[in-house]
Amino acid sequence: MKKLSILLFATVSLFGVDGYEVYKNNCAACHVEMITKAETLKTFNKLKAPPMIEVSRQLKDTIIIKGDDDEVHRFVTIAFIKEYIKNPSLDYFMCNAGAVDHFGVMPAQSHLSDAERQAVGEWIYDRYDGVEFK
Ligand code: HEC
Repeated sequence: MKKLSILLFATVSLFGVDGYEVYKNNCAACHVEMITKAETLKTFNKLKAPPMIEVSRQLKDTIIIKGDDDEVHRFVTIAFIKEYIKNPSLDYFMCNAGAVDHFGVMPAQSHLSDAERQAVGEWIYDRYDGVEFK
């Protein structure tokens, strides 16, 4: 039931900002929303950043919470995204190291408000719930 309510309200965060709009206006130029692994390999040289489905999966797999608490996992992952898009860094990226080598570090998206960073973080987490990158 808890899960369901998250999904129903996924696009508009608590602050009333639509995370998908934030994504489309600020991230989509570099991060493709949905693509298969095969297409990614085929079009790799044209991509400017890892596809968002891959970013979401990579963060979710890398962040491990003792006791597998879903709510804490979601909170911590979104908190990381919020911080990373403001202060991207070679010191603590979680993407595939080969991807960072290839694309370089992401340019900071420091023009976004806290509410926009929260909303896009929630969107990245919930958009790919149960969707596999394959
Ligand atoms: C100019 C291109 C560009 C734009 C615009 C951009 N990104 Fe990125 N992003 C990258 C690249 C390149 C990487 C991979 C290197 C890295 O991790 O820094 C990346 C990586 C990431 C990561 C993974 C961080 C990690 O642990 O490595 C997240 C999360 C992310 N982007 C979120 C966003 C969000 C949200 C937006 C929009 C608000 C956005 N990006 C806009 C280029 C971009």
